[in-house]
Amino acid sequence: MTVLHSTLPEWRALAELAATMREAHLRDLVDADERRFEHLHVEHAEWLLDLSRQRVTRETLAALCALARAAGLAARIEAMFRGDPINVTEGRAVLHAALRSTFAGSAAVQHEVQAAREQIEAFVAAVRDGRERGATGQPLRQIVNIGIGGSDLGPLLVADALRHEWSGGLTPHFVSNVDRTQLEDLMRTLDPAETLVVVCSKTFTTQETQANAQAARAWIVGALGADAPGAHFVAVSTNAAAMDAFGLRPGRRFPMWDWVGGRYSVWSAVGLAAELVIGSERFGEFLHGASEIDAHFLNTPFEQNLPVLMGLVGVWNRTFLGLPTLAVLPYEQRLARLPAYLQQLEMESNGKSVTLAGTPVDYATAPVVWGEPGSNAQHSFFQMLHQGSASAALDFIAPLRGSSGDTAAQDLALQNCFAQVQAFAFGMTREEAEREMRAAGLSEANVARLAPHRTYPGNRPSSLLLYPRTTARTLGQLLALYEHSVFVQGTVWGINSFDQFGVELGKKLAGAITIGGAHRPSGPGAAGIAALIDYVVKHR
Ligand code: F6P
Repeated sequence: MTVLHSTLPEWRALAELAATMREAHLRDLVDADERRFEHLHVEHAEWLLDLSRQRVTRETLAALCALARAAGLAARIEAMFRGDPINVTEGRAVLHAALRSTFAGSAAVQHEVQAAREQIEAFVAAVRDGRERGATGQPLRQIVNIGIGGSDLGPLLVADALRHEWSGGLTPHFVSNVDRTQLEDLMRTLDPAETLVVVCSKTFTTQETQANAQAARAWIVGALGADAPGAHFVAVSTNAAAMDAFGLRPGRRFPMWDWVGGRYSVWSAVGLAAELVIGSERFGEFLHGASEIDAHFLNTPFEQNLPVLMGLVGVWNRTFLGLPTLAVLPYEQRLARLPAYLQQLEMESNGKSVTLAGTPVDYATAPVVWGEPGSNAQHSFFQMLHQGSASAALDFIAPLRGSSGDTAAQDLALQNCFAQVQAFAFGMTREEAEREMRAAGLSEANVARLAPHRTYPGNRPSSLLLYPRTTARTLGQLLALYEHSVFVQGTVWGINSFDQFGVELGKKLAGAITIGGAHRPSGPGAAGIAALIDYVVKHR
């Protein structure tokens, strides 16, 4: 019988601290502790996590670590790495870490992972050096990944973020949306004879992926003949029977396991499209980077543990300070897809309202995650974040060098990034705004008229993550940092971060609705849905 974590004395202590903190401004916190940066940043390997512009003090962080202890975080981390079935609703282990760290999972699990790695690496090498060819004998140069959710966002992010690491003349493409437009665009431009389709689907039943895979198959058959799909398709799935039915040959299928959640699967063969374009050496560095963070997460005291601190600050902002959203703001265009990736990671994992034991929680869980590369965001939604009525927590992420190793352009990015974290935290008071306008020669009437518009409240909390450069290794580190941060939050909230029943109902109902078919919808609200179907049939 688990207790609701809000009944823990450590939780109540934090609620009291939060009540005081709601009255405090980051300006006051800086005045009270001139060495805030020194006290509230952590360095690990080449990473810096700066929490000095979060609305926390050293006391808050200590209290959050105490809550993590009371919530049993240390034991949960060990249980996850050991392979205990901590995904209790599905009775499954949670072992994505075993895909990159030899110290996670059993020897049997490690053996399977190793065998899969060997199979993947052999295939990747054969495609890249042209031994593996299409049905007409042409080398396979266009890689089309068909998948959705974790079977799309992970390989897409890795391929995009490491574009400067592409080699071997292969180009990746990603198809996820059921509306077929992505695939149609590709079918218009790609040569089927040099196209390899990677169907990624843990279940191999997902409607969107199945529909796109069948359409891609028809395209290959139409262009190259009925026997061609064998040379142009591979798949990644746990569902052998469905892969048989699709006609996938042995040797053209790669394993997945029920102990890897879709949103945690990029480390498995789900990363194949990315590995094909960056090569296995780089992909190995990606895995290695994540493994370094696994070791850090497992072995470092909470007070110095980056993902633990990231997760605890997430809980503080969402639950104790009541900030409903988290904006993810990379100062690196290569990470443009990171917010989308983290949306699934955080919201599908921690978008839950009952504890592991099924008791409704009486506190807020996962925030809404959103974001864009910081540079562009400055010129779109930052206005609202600075002066609008909604407040958000902010994650700034920036490499010290551009992906080419350059510093000149990245200096501009960093200058902007640092200016923004400062402006969000400290704002500008009315007095300061008035002084500035007077110094610029504005009349007293204009100063009075414009002062309210030129005041910035500040007190918008942000974290800043700095790292050397976006490489395969640092990308692996970054994603593992967020994965473990999500786990920390889920543990403190006492929820199961590893199921996703919330998406099931929509899937089930979609399967029962046919546009223009004889089958009529049933269940609550069926008349309204029937009316919509009739409208579609009549008006198109
Ligand atoms: O939307 C739910 C979900 O199960 C995700 O968790 C997963 O990443 C996605 O669908 C795709 O599932 P599959 O890999 O089984 O096609």
